[in-house]
Amino acid sequence: MWKRHEKFERHSLILVLGIIFVVSIGGLVEIAPLFYLESTIEKVEGVRPYTPLEQAGRDIYVREGCYVCHSQMIRPLRDEVERYGHYSLAAESMYDHPFQWGSKRTGPDLARVGGKYSDSWHHDHLSNPRSVVPESNMPPYRFLARTELDTHAIERRLAALRAVGVPYTNDQIANAKDDLDTQLDAFAGENSPLKKRYGAKVQQRDFDGNPDKVSEMDALIAYLQVLGTMVDFRTYKAEDPENLR
Ligand code: HEC
Repeated sequence: MWKRHEKFERHSLILVLGIIFVVSIGGLVEIAPLFYLESTIEKVEGVRPYTPLEQAGRDIYVREGCYVCHSQMIRPLRDEVERYGHYSLAAESMYDHPFQWGSKRTGPDLARVGGKYSDSWHHDHLSNPRSVVPESNMPPYRFLARTELDTHAIERRLAALRAVGVPYTNDQIANAKDDLDTQLDAFAGENSPLKKRYGAKVQQRDFDGNPDKVSEMDALIAYLQVLGTMVDFRTYKAEDPENLR
């Protein structure tokens, strides 16, 4: 036994092959079972793909690099849960491409910012953060309210997301532009086609305070207002609490 060991230690190539062999056993044990699981993410009631307007807002969020200062992942630690609310579930970001987890927090975590402030607060804050939070060092994004939202490829945007696994239906893709306009219409009503396609909880109103314009600000605020609101945590029960320890 010890003599053979010497062989490994004296010939670096044999040692490398030996290491690869041993490490690959560990890798197989960890990775192989994942191929037999249908999904590693527990489905949670309420989680749905973003509406076209929310998705457009999300694309602006990514374009502007908001993630450079904001994470969207509340960790299951006491201080985080007390500050931000229920820790983030994997299912809550299952339709996020690219996901917005992370640990860089110059500003607060935004995973549950939906409903925390009014639309006009967001409008003022994004236009000039120091007008509502004097000590803020967040940059202003005034141009968002001035800039018309580019929607010419919204159907193709949803189709591209479907290609990577977001379950948009043909109906949702074909009607993406209509759904986007409906979401900005405060009078669209409870039976709007948008709510039929995305659920009764979808918020329909003009988000930027200017009903004459479909702006990038509209889309971004619609996105911020849905963050963390899809799952109802008053009724949510983790399927198997053992998995959470
Ligand atoms: C340079 C870092 C930085 C960037 C980039 C940045 N933020 Fe912030 N953000 C902050 C800081 C710091 C705060 C806390 C002070 C404040 O409320 O302004 C904050 C606060 C916020 C809040 C309020 C959160 C809360 O719970 O009170 C929201 C919403 C927000 N940012 C959205 C955005 C969006 C959307 C973008 C991209 C368009 C963005 N931020 C880009 C630094 C940043």
